[in-house]
Amino acid sequence: MIEDGQFVGLGTGRAAAAGIRALAARIKDEGLSVTAVATSLQSEALATELGIPLVAMDRPVDFAFDGADVVTPTGLVIKGAGGALVRERVVDDTAGRFVVLVDEPKVAGHPSSWGTLPVAVVPFAADFVAHQTADLAPSRRPEHSDDELIILDMRPPQGAAWHPLHARLRQIPGVVDTGLFDVSIENVLVGEPDGTCQTLAQLVGEGHIFL
Ligand code: A5P
Repeated sequence: MIEDGQFVGLGTGRAAAAGIRALAARIKDEGLSVTAVATSLQSEALATELGIPLVAMDRPVDFAFDGADVVTPTGLVIKGAGGALVRERVVDDTAGRFVVLVDEPKVAGHPSSWGTLPVAVVPFAADFVAHQTADLAPSRRPEHSDDELIILDMRPPQGAAWHPLHARLRQIPGVVDTGLFDVSIENVLVGEPDGTCQTLAQLVGEGHIFL
């Protein structure tokens, strides 16, 4: 999907790492010419090792690819298990095209099947935000994000509406962002163990996955 001359956003995690390796192979084998920006220090290190030219995030990327923790058949995505959700928001949500890479077990009817909504918070406000969200049983990760933010994993009750929850969390002073994203299901690639993939839209259209 990536074309010559594009500015590409590199996601974070295992699926994104596979994408980074595939992109590096195209640069090497086909002479594809791209520049890229990474959503984490981990992905930056991998891209550097593989010779992908990295530049600053000074404009929207043309194309971004990234993994996800869960995707629903309507395109609601939870990200952030790797703690990179703020950089992922900046890169993925502003991309000309954002493609999500998952395998079928990650497709679920409701994000409750994943269970947690990561929230990135400035360190000064971490205890305050935890107090304001006591009903969501926040759990604080021991490690900071690449931007020195604290990640609180919220546990919304079963069946909760996650968009209103995202809106509520974003309004709390000190909260930078949550891991809730939206994507078009035409742009979700669901990989199979044999190496093939189909879009989530195809799987829904063919009745393999129900809305
Ligand atoms: C990083 O913060 C996350 O959003 C990852 O993209 C997500 O957790 C998926 O990672 P895997 O592909 O490793 O499951």
